[in-house]
Amino acid sequence: MDIDIFTLFPEWFEWFREQRHVRNALAAGTSLQCVNFREHTPLSGGQVDDTPFGGGAGMVLRVDVMDSALRAHYGIDATEVPRCRRVIALTPTGRPLDEEYVLQLSAEPALTLLCGRYEGFDERIVEHFCSESLSIGRYVLAGGELAAMVVCDAILRKLPGALGDPGSATEESFSAALQGRPEYPHYTRPAEYRGWSVPEVLLSGHHERVREWRAQQSLERGHRGESA
Ligand code: 6GU
Repeated sequence: MDIDIFTLFPEWFEWFREQRHVRNALAAGTSLQCVNFREHTPLSGGQVDDTPFGGGAGMVLRVDVMDSALRAHYGIDATEVPRCRRVIALTPTGRPLDEEYVLQLSAEPALTLLCGRYEGFDERIVEHFCSESLSIGRYVLAGGELAAMVVCDAILRKLPGALGDPGSATEESFSAALQGRPEYPHYTRPAEYRGWSVPEVLLSGHHERVREWRAQQSLERGHRGESA
């Protein structure tokens, strides 16, 4: 997979790239490239944003700036880019990220993530240069960078070779193997700690009973609306 991230803070991603599962995905052929759109602004003084028409607080990312950056990076008109690859604006008002959305994105050959700052994007960026917009939850972040890392983290661990044990991604919370339900609770040694014991069935060596217990726990967590 080929992922491009348009951001004013490419250095934030240096730490992200060094993490184990990200390094594994990169070694297995995924590319993760950052484009600093300030470097492509046609405006003087590195300007990328402006005050909102109609008034109000904050600043808005300019459509001409994103137009130039996409044109410079892809060598085609910015409106053509979403025909070649999925271009996603990261905004709190976008489609909520969930497991199904992550799986869909992980099957794409190429993705472009646009990180907003300030009050957000001029809407014409989303309308003309993007395939969609994405949100990681109902709260507002100062910018799209952390959301981009969340999206990449969730996607990269679905790719072959990213996890040490490929089984870890199959039977995990919200996966098809668990019918979309949260995962069952896990325990490891010591079997008894400060008087807190591990459910007996897990120590029984009885695989069928363990399977049933886990399925039941997953079901109950799902009913409680809990996540693992
Ligand atoms: Cl994608 N961006 C920002 N700025 N805030 C968010 C978000 C994205 N998702 C939830 N809050």
